[in-house]
Amino acid sequence: MKMSTQDNKEHIQILENNREYYDSEKIAYLLPHDIDECGCLQKQHHASRYIFQKNFWAPVKKQLEEGITVLDSGCGPGSWTLDMAKDFPNSKFHGVDISNFFPDESKPDNCEFVIGNLTETLPFEDNTFDYIHQRLLILGLTNDGWEKCLSELLRVLKPGGYIEILEPNVKNLHNGGPLLEQVHIALAEMMESRDIPVTIAAELKNRVTEAGFVNAEETLDFLPLNHGGRGGELM
Ligand SMILES: C[S@@+](CC[C@H](N)C(=O)[O-])C[C@H]1O[C@@H](n2cnc3c(N)ncnc32)[C@H](O)[C@@H]1O
Repeated sequence: MKMSTQDNKEHIQILENNREYYDSEKIAYLLPHDIDECGCLQKQHHASRYIFQKNFWAPVKKQLEEGITVLDSGCGPGSWTLDMAKDFPNSKFHGVDISNFFPDESKPDNCEFVIGNLTETLPFEDNTFDYIHQRLLILGLTNDGWEKCLSELLRVLKPGGYIEILEPNVKNLHNGGPLLEQVHIALAEMMESRDIPVTIAAELKNRVTEAGFVNAEETLDFLPLNHGGRGGELM
């Protein structure tokens, strides 16, 4: 897919092993910001859709078919946003991310992308969205960052709207294998040293409730690691 970049001069990037990373006090994100990373995120999205056989868990299918306004928070290269915009042409999809690698002009008309930092004021009015989806910010938000982000998402969600947040429980790996186990131990140490919560998946229900959301529910699904079959291969 061709990507377009909006102007994003605010954040200085540094090169390390030919990869580009954020170098800004305003951005805690640990992964690279470059075209290679976009490719990984796109593949990851397709693996997730194949394994779970769905793109969302919230009870919003009927509303999406009729036409609602949706935010993909921390959308990355917009793989989920684009898929959903194609599946639900009556709904309007907005993707926001600190990274400026967004799908090019061939995107559907019901899809818009804008640069924004989830730990600052987002470029949307109060009560804009009926449904907010946020996936895999585990390496991007500190404890303080989660608090600010959830408060901002509460501001832009309409009363009665749904928010869906998907995060992996990286402390609870089954059948990961010794190498992946080592990677996770090193990653967890790095996260802890930067005040990035490692166990965010298990904490989310409490955190969203503390932020002011109501009727929070938790669902646990399993990703196949070192399993056979197409799903295992994709992961
Ligand atoms: C692992 S990627 C997930 C992308 C997408 N949600 C998905 O599931 O394909 C995390 C994304 O969060 C974005 N991100 C990290 N910190 C952010 C922040 N403070 N504000 C906005 N986006 C942020 C990154 O740029 C990256 O695109």
